[in-house]
Amino acid sequence: MRSLIRILGVARELLPAYAAIVAAGVLVAATGLTVPFIIKAATDEVVAGLSGGGAGVPGVLWLAFLLLLTDVANTIISNIGGYLGDVMAIRLRSILSRNYFEKLLRLPQRYFDNELTGTIISRLQRSITETTAFLNMFANNFLPMLLSVVAALVIIGWYSWWLALLMLAVYPLFTWLTALTSRRWQRLETAKNLEFDVAGGRFAEVVGQIRVVKSFVAEPRELAHFNGRYDATIGLTREQSAYWHKMDVARRGALNLIFFGIYSIIFTATISGEFTLGVMVLLIQLVNMARQPVQSMSFLVDASQRAITGCRDYFKVMDEPVESAAVSADAPPPPTLRTRPGEPVVVFDNARFGYTGDVEVLRGVSFEVQRGERVAFVGESGVGKTTMTSLLLGLYPLTGGKLLVDGRDVTTVPLPELRAQVGVVFQDPALFSGTIRENIAYGRPGASEAEIVTAARRSHAHGFIIALPGGYDAEIGERGVKLSGGQKQRIAVARAMLKDAPILVLDEATSSLDSKAERLVQEGLEELMSDRTSLIIAHRLSTISSVDRIITLREGLIEEIGTPAELARTNGIYAELLALQASASKADRKRLQRYEILG
Ligand SMILES: Nc1ncnc2c1ncn2[C@@H]1O[C@H](COP(=O)(O)OP(=O)(O)OP(=O)(O)O)[C@@H](O)[C@H]1O
Ligand SMILES: [Mg+2]
Repeated sequence: MRSLIRILGVARELLPAYAAIVAAGVLVAATGLTVPFIIKAATDEVVAGLSGGGAGVPGVLWLAFLLLLTDVANTIISNIGGYLGDVMAIRLRSILSRNYFEKLLRLPQRYFDNELTGTIISRLQRSITETTAFLNMFANNFLPMLLSVVAALVIIGWYSWWLALLMLAVYPLFTWLTALTSRRWQRLETAKNLEFDVAGGRFAEVVGQIRVVKSFVAEPRELAHFNGRYDATIGLTREQSAYWHKMDVARRGALNLIFFGIYSIIFTATISGEFTLGVMVLLIQLVNMARQPVQSMSFLVDASQRAITGCRDYFKVMDEPVESAAVSADAPPPPTLRTRPGEPVVVFDNARFGYTGDVEVLRGVSFEVQRGERVAFVGESGVGKTTMTSLLLGLYPLTGGKLLVDGRDVTTVPLPELRAQVGVVFQDPALFSGTIRENIAYGRPGASEAEIVTAARRSHAHGFIIALPGGYDAEIGERGVKLSGGQKQRIAVARAMLKDAPILVLDEATSSLDSKAERLVQEGLEELMSDRTSLIIAHRLSTISSVDRIITLREGLIEEIGTPAELARTNGIYAELLALQASASKADRKRLQRYEILG
């Protein structure tokens, strides 16, 4: 319940709307309550008429006309209230969704490592839809009903206070009986939502990577997994609903007994002359009016519990610790460096890091990269090269030691500033659906056409782009599926070029290219690196032979640091790789020779 109130508090700007809805609710209740009184008057009029007195036919017609007026007023006001409720609900939904997305954008990388995209989406859908649907229903139906109940009770009390007391006892009794049911119901609801979330998460992942699924003919497996989750929800719903309805029989049974008492009292009091016939008719109507919400209370409780569970899920995300201040609409800070040429721009000082508490990926890494220097990182797959890139972007906090970028500890630099200084070509090019132009311009929103084309030319992407139907306006599909691996990589390089950050990180930037294309892109990259500090990760040694220094890593530690020439002479990883490459090309030559002989 607290979380529901908190939801209302989130959208304070909707206060006038709430107030208007409450006002409409009061008017609906008031017009609704007038009806029993008019019918009472009509009954008395009819009774009087039958015994020869009263105002006769004109009197009852006048009362019928009054009924018409109240009904029309009630219809109009409740529809205005309905309109206000609908608009309030959609505004609330838009506010909650925006806040949720904004919050997600501020959550640290670690959150996304542990959640499936589809799960995040299905949770957003459910929590917000159910909460707003409930509030909409509450505003439009339950609020007028609750107001009528209070008024009806007061009026009943005016005629007979013990009848009102008996009526009043119904609510706490019913609420108590419902609360008894609630805990188990909620536990089952949470279990059900978990199944939906897991199924939804996998669903999105499978659709996103349908090519892999098809290639492994994994459709039946995926379908079975999906089915399994939904089957589980059927079982859970059976249990939940059976329990709910059993309890509802008990609850309503108790109510039926109380109403038996209430009607007996009204009938006997009328027959013994304590109430007139009109009063009896009035009281029966009021009791029915007050009884209505009790009957729909199961529905109300059901909907409100769904909403409460939804709110809880919502606030679970909203209460996650964020990594940065609010997402601002301001342009990102200019990518400049304070460090002078020759001074260290990137300093890893005994840096330690592990994704999980028990496994350390970096176990005390220290090195410096000077401004304008080109440094390559070499090490086996999984040694932690990409991890260092992530640390440089401030995606994860170090677990020990220090990391300075541009002379400042990364923990103290505002993240947008840090990220503006570092341009990355990721190992996995990760493009967005949309056009090629939009994807390149992602590096710098508002870039001119000429700048985009220049970046594409320098990354040697221009040629293939203009050959595509649509050219720069060609749609590339989700994550760029319509492009080849090498084409995606060149777009990613162009995007980084446009960002024009002073520190450049190339994580296997040319790994998907063939040797010829690689040489071409390499030229572009050379140009890009010329006046910048570059950290290069590459498996192909040809890419890194021209760097200033090479740093080799082994088992989370630095093994060697030196120029390519120096490291070629030691027996470290780099020398090893050089030897391997030499022997490989020798073997290749041999194979070629053999083909030539055979040919
Ligand atoms: N998000 C993550 N959560 C948990 N562990 C991770 C995560 N990313 C990487 N790792 C682990 O951290 C280690 C280092 O990974 P990293 O991606 O930095 O390797 P790499 O040197 O870039 O390898 P490669 O040359 O194959 O790209 C690996 O053992 C990997 O399993
Ligand atoms: Mg990597």
